[in-house]
Amino acid sequence: MQTISLLTAVSESEDLQVDIEPTDTLLAALEMGGSNWPSSCRNGACRTCIGQLRQGEVRYEMEWPGLTAEEKAQGYVLPCVAYACTPVVVRQGYAD
Ligand code: FES
Repeated sequence: MQTISLLTAVSESEDLQVDIEPTDTLLAALEMGGSNWPSSCRNGACRTCIGQLRQGEVRYEMEWPGLTAEEKAQGYVLPCVAYACTPVVVRQGYAD
C-alpha cells in the first residue's frame, strides 16, 4: 500500500526534516525520522517532550494537554500528543 505524506516537520534543534502522516503524533513522526527528541510518559502529562513551535500549527485530541494558557500562547507544544495541522518547525525544550 502506498502512503502519501501531506506534511513535514523540521526539528530546528537537530537540523532534521521528517514526513508526517495525519495519524501520527509529532513525536512519533520525529522519532520515525531518526530524531532523539526526549520523551517519557507519551500522554501529555510529564512535559519531558516540551518544545516550541517556530512555524505552523498543531491540534490536540485531548481536552487540555499539560500546558498553561500562557505557554500555549507562546507556542509551546507537547509533541507526544500533538498532531500537525500544517508543516511545522519545532525546537526542543523550554526557552527559560
Ligand atoms: S512525553 Fe510526557 S508530556 Fe510528552
